[in-house]
Amino acid sequence: MKVKRAEKSRIHDINFDTLSFGEVFTDHMYVCDYVDGEWIDPRIIPYQPLQMDPSASVLHYGQAVFEGMKAYKDEQGSAWLFRPEDNHARINKSSVRLAIPEFPKAYFMDGLNELLTIDKDWIRSGEGNSLYVRPFVFANQAAVSATASNRYQFIIICSPVKSYYSGEVNVLVSENYSRAASGGVGFAKAAGNYAASFYPTQLALKEGYQQIIWTDASTHQYLEECGTMNVFFRVNDTLITAPTTDTILDGITRKSVIQIAQDAGINVEVRPVTVTEIIAAHKNGSLKEVFGAGTAVVISPINSIGYKGENYLIEKQDHSFATIIKEKIVNIQYNLSEDPYGWRKEVVAVTV
Ligand SMILES: Cc1ncc(COP(=O)(O)O)c(C=O)c1O
Repeated sequence: MKVKRAEKSRIHDINFDTLSFGEVFTDHMYVCDYVDGEWIDPRIIPYQPLQMDPSASVLHYGQAVFEGMKAYKDEQGSAWLFRPEDNHARINKSSVRLAIPEFPKAYFMDGLNELLTIDKDWIRSGEGNSLYVRPFVFANQAAVSATASNRYQFIIICSPVKSYYSGEVNVLVSENYSRAASGGVGFAKAAGNYAASFYPTQLALKEGYQQIIWTDASTHQYLEECGTMNVFFRVNDTLITAPTTDTILDGITRKSVIQIAQDAGINVEVRPVTVTEIIAAHKNGSLKEVFGAGTAVVISPINSIGYKGENYLIEKQDHSFATIIKEKIVNIQYNLSEDPYGWRKEVVAVTV
């Protein structure tokens, strides 16, 4: 892999204590092109703006998918990734649905390891500190023609993030808008899925809700996902979450939560969940916890649920499942505990 280093690092200009999520980027980026039917020229270059033709396919038809993952540093200075092969598998699953050519696993893993080794100083140790890693692929054929592009670019960029308290999360159950429909692209991390969620989320914000719980497109009865997280409900001592259908993203945190909860002896039900049963559980006092699960905050407890003009407040629990499960996952991520699952992968340089 070719490596062109930045002449001067920007790291000393950065205040790591005041970072806003996803606004500061490291010194380098990993880039690879798809031309004439193959991925060529994987390389690391200084972080820089892209040049593309105004007719580039992605700007008109949205042919783009992405991933989100994190690198963590332990107190000894080693850097770690959490289930990175799963991100690779998922970007390819997303790509297939968007008619984007799959990206080779060796290129993905080598690019990631090399980039993170070069920019390792940007990963800070300490609770909550991490480096958010954003792989993405987009169509860059220069042509306003509504067909799959014949050229693509795969890129990885990285952004240091600090521990942040996301505040109280109040969520609104969507009664009209949909994020995904059966047969569509909801299971893919397609850029357009997020674009389509911003307007309904803006409306929810005006009502005092930070996120939407998306429901199924045909009946708006089944609870699917919450913002950019999968969602879990604790009814009495059972944890319930929806199965990953073609409308739900197969979250890596979600499947880690399920595994850890089961191994901790918690009863987990993976089945369709209706808004009616959750409101009924709230009314009879059996709804103990609701939380979202995703890479950004691992687990985010939900404070209240809005539905049909009512706001249902969820009382805080001592020894919540959310806290117990989060701690176990975070300890694996930061190399603070054993990892019986083999989820943690050390960042190892390929050529540098
Ligand atoms: C729509 C959606 N659902 C769920 C998730 C959680 O997935 P993961 O745990 O892999 O971050 C994300 C974030 O990636 C997301 O964007």
